[in-house]
Amino acid sequence: MKLEKLAETASKIDSFLLTRLSGEPKDLYHAASYLIDHGGKRLRPYMVIKSCQLLGGTAKQAIPAAAAIEMVHNFTLVHDDIMDNDEVRHGVPTVHMRFGTPIGILAGDLLFSRAFETISKPYLHKSEDVGLNLVATLAKACTDVCEGQTLDISMAKSSKIPNENQYIKMIEKKTSSLFVASCAMGAISAKKKFSDVVRLSTFGRNLGIAFQIIDDLIGVIGDPKITKKPVGNDIREGKKSLPILMAIKKAGNQERKIILNAFGNSSVSKSEVERAISIISSLGIDDIIKQKAAYHSNAAKKSISIYDGPAKNELLSLLDFVVERSL
Ligand code: IPE
Ligand code: IPE
Ligand code: MG
Ligand code: MG
Repeated sequence: MKLEKLAETASKIDSFLLTRLSGEPKDLYHAASYLIDHGGKRLRPYMVIKSCQLLGGTAKQAIPAAAAIEMVHNFTLVHDDIMDNDEVRHGVPTVHMRFGTPIGILAGDLLFSRAFETISKPYLHKSEDVGLNLVATLAKACTDVCEGQTLDISMAKSSKIPNENQYIKMIEKKTSSLFVASCAMGAISAKKKFSDVVRLSTFGRNLGIAFQIIDDLIGVIGDPKITKKPVGNDIREGKKSLPILMAIKKAGNQERKIILNAFGNSSVSKSEVERAISIISSLGIDDIIKQKAAYHSNAAKKSISIYDGPAKNELLSLLDFVVERSL
């Protein structure tokens, strides 16, 4: 699948999304829509729409949930960049760098609350429970993100090196949860059975794991010209991402020392980080990482095997994109 395919669907929700992110005070709304204005792949809204279509629903039915998940996603990005001390995303200064941390926090909060306004509004004063199910699903995902982000931060602070299982548990919470919610909200918007919601949720969980594994690889050895975010910060911040864990394990004594010297060291020089990156790149871990992502991508594929049709093929192509992407 190509990025253009995502862009096509994105154009369907972008105008809806941006009208809901305009208002006063201007600074607050400008900060809330700033990242969305400057890029983003719109993966999660694509998954909401395709999950809804897979089950016989229409794109139109899924638009409020698609916009809401993108708002929540951007809320997590704005707050994540504050927590991770990241200064650049989408090739522009992060929201807190551009507008200051207080407005950054508020912009995140606004995106969060607007998301819930957006999914509940179409169902207010109606007897069906679709709106309530959407709210409950999105709220649970937000709780999971908070838990996952806390695990990410406490793992980064700790001198202990976690095992792969602990890493997977952490990314399931911080990243997969929004992909689970995307698919589940698509199914709920299509007004389908609980068993469909469960199957789609499993698809989202596995796709999300594959996505974050690759994201962590790109975060260390990706090309910043393509990703429009700098590499090396995960090393400086001591992030226990799978590629870094594997590199520490695989490196020889001398090389390991160089990686560990940069790891979690906020005062390390740029050239020392670059040296650590070039060692990690030379260890040949990218193939093993891609295989691990492919394993989860296959699990995702299996979970929707009972379905048919064009939306299914689009979801399967999305899986390939997630594993093969460099953006
Ligand atoms: C970035 O997600 C945050 C992670 C979960 C790794 P995306 O890569 O989907 O963010 P966009 O495309 O910039 O919105
Ligand atoms: C991704 O965080 C998960 C959330 C934003 C909740 P990361 O910190 O791993 O992602 P990037 O590298 O900043 O996009
Ligand atoms: Mg981050
Ligand atoms: Mg983070």
